[in-house]
Amino acid sequence: MTVKIAPSILSADFARLGEEVRALDAAGADYIHIDVMDGHFVPNLTFGAPVVKAIRSHTTRPFDVHLMIEPVDPLIPAFAEAGADIITVHAEATRHLDRSLQLIRSLGKKAGVSLNPATPETVLAYILDAVDLILVMSVNPGFGGQSFIPSQVDKIARIKKMIGSRPIEIEVDGGINAKTAKLCADAGANVLVAGSAVFQTPEYAANIAALR
Ligand code: DX5
Ligand code: ZN
Repeated sequence: MTVKIAPSILSADFARLGEEVRALDAAGADYIHIDVMDGHFVPNLTFGAPVVKAIRSHTTRPFDVHLMIEPVDPLIPAFAEAGADIITVHAEATRHLDRSLQLIRSLGKKAGVSLNPATPETVLAYILDAVDLILVMSVNPGFGGQSFIPSQVDKIARIKKMIGSRPIEIEVDGGINAKTAKLCADAGANVLVAGSAVFQTPEYAANIAALR
């Protein structure tokens, strides 16, 4: 099985965001991973729904929107409207995870849940039928270019077992390079987010291919 690659535009040139998204599309990105940070849930600030809307016309690839914001429910409709296809919330950032996931699906979008490195996979036990994607953070969220936390490989394998035959994607985010990509794929992940690894040189297609 070949994995999907979701380049994170956190590492893109923000002054040329539309062009960067078109380049990722041409380079074979499966999803466009969009990191939304609020300076509160995570110690960094990026952009909101208007920016997502502005880049929507530059590609037809699915927008994989990773919300690192708290509270999250009040802003979910704005991201749905801006053109998100998958909307992922952090389990740690919502008091009512099942409700947040239901809200996303009620807007016709795929619902994702993300777990920080210290969060056990057991929080997923009762929402498996309410979720389309599980995002395992292999770094503490907030910044690109951090080192992969090896303990998360075991978590991926445990989640793979938990989901059984359900059509749930397992995505990994943080510190992905050719070496850690293989560890994650072998453990059961099928979508890999990569920021630095894709944007390190202008050869986005080659950089994406190297991760598969
Ligand atoms: C971190 C973000 C990631 C980040 C990954 O909080 O969620 O998506 O862009 O960057 P790299 O691939 O450089 O670790
Ligand atoms: Zn992310």
